[in-house]
Amino acid sequence: MSLDIKKIRNDFPILNQQVYKKPLVYFDNGATTQKPQVVIDEEAKIYSQENSNIHRGVHYLSEQLTQRYEDARKVVSEFINSAHDYEVVFTSGTTESINAVAFSFGEKYINEGDEIIISSLEHHANIVPWQMVCDREKAVLKVIPINDKGELLLDEYQKLLSPKTKIVAVNHVSNALGTVNDVKRMIDIAHQKDIPVLIDGAQSIQHSKIDVQELDCDFYVFSGHKIYAPNGIGVLYGKEKWLNDMPPFMTGGEMIKKVTFEKTTFNELPFKFEAGTPNYVAAIGLATAIKYVQKLGLENIAAYEKDLLEYATKKLNTIDGLRIIGTAENKISVISFVLENIHHYDAGMIIDKMGVAVRTGHHCAEPLMDFLNIDGTLRASFSFYNTKEEIDKLYDAILTVKQMFS
Ligand code: ALA
Repeated sequence: MSLDIKKIRNDFPILNQQVYKKPLVYFDNGATTQKPQVVIDEEAKIYSQENSNIHRGVHYLSEQLTQRYEDARKVVSEFINSAHDYEVVFTSGTTESINAVAFSFGEKYINEGDEIIISSLEHHANIVPWQMVCDREKAVLKVIPINDKGELLLDEYQKLLSPKTKIVAVNHVSNALGTVNDVKRMIDIAHQKDIPVLIDGAQSIQHSKIDVQELDCDFYVFSGHKIYAPNGIGVLYGKEKWLNDMPPFMTGGEMIKKVTFEKTTFNELPFKFEAGTPNYVAAIGLATAIKYVQKLGLENIAAYEKDLLEYATKKLNTIDGLRIIGTAENKISVISFVLENIHHYDAGMIIDKMGVAVRTGHHCAEPLMDFLNIDGTLRASFSFYNTKEEIDKLYDAILTVKQMFS
């Protein structure tokens, strides 16, 4: 089935506006995606008709909304095909989810001299939490290198795994380059040595079908706002055995079974990891966004976005002095590029004035930029609501930048 892009664009009110008197072209979907009207309406409906704290009241509103929150968990669980819905913990986003695993897993399993493996492609959110664990526990961080195309060197990865390796934490898709990592293979390799694997799915959940049982990952984390859902909600999926074994990373209300001043016992999964009032409005919004995406069909989304990527890659490659950074065989719809003798920040500002929103900078992946020997790129990241006509506008804007600097 092909997507009706005109109809889809009407679902996203923000797209229908002008910036600097030009129609907005939104190519910063890697940073955050826009929200369809159904998600915006859902939020408004909860606040105007249904709001009440959940899991805490015996009154009507609280019971109704508690049910809706737990239904939202089931929607997420089915979406990623977790074996149990209690393996889905709601967090504020990918960053909190990774910090949670780093802290809790680190407390329980990582000791002096142990090793943690990440990759050269990681976002800071999947680097710094592990560095903190290493500092605390006197463990060692090992990094999988990449080739010039921005692909992980899996032979080197295999060599890094040792009896001291306690966990591997890698992204599924690089936010800066768009590389899709062969995480299935990486998980298989790690599991042959009984090493658990965390997958940062911040840039994969919105582009491809995720099946955590098929991947057999131990943890999979993502943010709602990257998949057309509200901000401030995210997911930490963890296999039951790990989540049961790990101590909570945050303590407070609802995550307890019994509190006395002498001792506290913890609640069962997933509540053990959901201290305090959760962002139940955004969790329900996430379920609404997931249903919206499911209606379009992830296979259809992937096919359409692949077409956009191929079109944009071909077109941008014809521009003299433009170099695409990240040319992996398997990429999602992200193009990072630099322009010869023009700073990405200057170019981004001018492109913006033409109505085209791209991201500039190191994309929270400074070690990757250092490896590539650049201080940043321009990044256009496409969604299913973007069009080839919009890519033509980006192309024209880049030509204008070049003219201004020539
Ligand atoms: N991690 C987000 C990005 O890549 C913010 O832009």
